[in-house]
Amino acid sequence: MKDTCHLYTELAWLWPMWGDAATEYAHYCQHVTGLIRQYAQRPVATLLDIGCGGGKNAMNLNREFNVTGLDLSPAMLVQAKELNPDCTFVQGDMRICRLGRTFDAVLMDDAISHMNCRADFVTAFRTAYDHMNPGGVLVVTPDVMIETFQQNKTTTTPATRDGLDVVFIENVYDPDPTDEQYETTILYLIRDHGNLRIESEHWTMGIFSLDTWRQVLRETGFQVHEGLYRPGEDEYTVFACVKAR
Ligand SMILES: C[S@@+](CC[C@H](N)C(=O)[O-])C[C@H]1O[C@@H](n2cnc3c(N)ncnc32)[C@H](O)[C@@H]1O
Repeated sequence: MKDTCHLYTELAWLWPMWGDAATEYAHYCQHVTGLIRQYAQRPVATLLDIGCGGGKNAMNLNREFNVTGLDLSPAMLVQAKELNPDCTFVQGDMRICRLGRTFDAVLMDDAISHMNCRADFVTAFRTAYDHMNPGGVLVVTPDVMIETFQQNKTTTTPATRDGLDVVFIENVYDPDPTDEQYETTILYLIRDHGNLRIESEHWTMGIFSLDTWRQVLRETGFQVHEGLYRPGEDEYTVFACVKAR
């Protein structure tokens, strides 16, 4: 099936309804901030959010740091700027972009899953490394890893706002567990004052083993620390990666 890009283009206006910036993102960002403070070998004032999307992480991290967001999608950056008028947002591709400045910390959150081949995965971490000051910390949280992937998992998220009732139905499936890709398929049920519109999405995403994550991060040049983030019943490995001084 061919990949689509609706959420990051004409459906970007739906992003603010999918996951609450002030609760679930705030909880994750507290964890990220704690790791940065724990492992940084320098004062941390500036942070680059790579794949910042609609700016929900940026909103929470901007309380602690001076945040710049980088994303491929102009439509998502419009959402990010609306949520964070005082942050800087830049359009660019995390595989090749060079901003010409460096930061004390970098966050790579869910956007890293869009690196769906090893070469892109490696170059994205090179981008992070090249944008960091010595002694700074990269925090990166895999959405999925080969060892813990939950085949055919489906998550349903209802949301209501201003006469709109939306249901996001997200399914993940790995048709070939021997390669480094899996599929995310999303159904959007959008009811505008009761009138139903159905949209769908299909993405080919990247999935790597724990050892591959460790190896790629080390080969990029980082000192790698591993921890766990446990929101509710879920559990994610989180890497806090220090760029040596
Ligand atoms: C789920 S959204 C991120 C949401 C974000 N964590 C937030 O706080 O709102 C994933 C983002 O990855 C971005 N993305 C995908 N491929 C990218 C690339 N090669 N370079 C930069 N951004 C990319 C998409 O444009 C999208 O905005």
